[in-house]
Amino acid sequence: MYEKPISSAVIARLPRYYRYLGELLENDVVRISSKELSEKMQVTASQIRQDLNHFGGFGQQGYGYNVEYLYTEIGKILGLDRKYHMIIVGAGNLGQAIANYADFERRGFYIKGIFDVNPELAGKMIRGVEVRPARELESFIRENPVHIAALTIPKENAPRVAADLARWGVRAIWNFVPADLSLPKEVLVENVHLTESLMRLSYNLRARDEAEERRKAEQSNGI
Ligand code: NAI
Repeated sequence: MYEKPISSAVIARLPRYYRYLGELLENDVVRISSKELSEKMQVTASQIRQDLNHFGGFGQQGYGYNVEYLYTEIGKILGLDRKYHMIIVGAGNLGQAIANYADFERRGFYIKGIFDVNPELAGKMIRGVEVRPARELESFIRENPVHIAALTIPKENAPRVAADLARWGVRAIWNFVPADLSLPKEVLVENVHLTESLMRLSYNLRARDEAEERRKAEQSNGI
């Protein structure tokens, strides 16, 4: 659909545009200039124009962007005009938390199955979806459309389970396990690592504290 490859930095910003535009729509805002959008999002107006130009711009000089149109088009680019069937593999703390989060459905991600090896979890209902024994995974995947598998199992089991999922036909894995999965190239893997995000925060906290200490030391030395 879009001829030029789009950088991952631009793609990474699209969900944020989408969220802001969604909020504008909820507040009945019909159109917005890149300047106003930039003030709201704290991204430069030229960055916004450049980003959206990748997709044909959507804006008109002197008019700004039509919020609903832009929201719909970015939604299409993100593939949110489609419905996805998702399964969760591993119904422990994290798997259950994901299953309990209702908002994914609003975005078109429907949880159709939850699987676990622990027999005590089999039959448990989470927001209307029953936890099934992990041995049923293969037949479920072969018999039902599964677009995305969320992987929330212990690290040591992840390489084998991910390879099985790929072999059975899963083509996208939402990987929460702190391990790099090595899978055939047709399988998309999106890693979500909260700890890495925390480490970035800790780096920035440290850098800020050090800068603050330097500033205080310079002040007390009368520099
Ligand atoms: P947990 O121990 O509560 O749950 C893991 C579940 O996986 C258990 O119910 C277990 O029976 C099940 N399981 C084990 N092998 C399985 C298999 N082959 N097939 C199906 N189910 C299987 O652990 P928790 O806290 O939910 O964490 C799960 C994973 O997510 C861990 O790898 C953990 O490191 C990771 N994690 C990642 C985070 C992130 O930010 N990406 C945050 C928290 C946890």
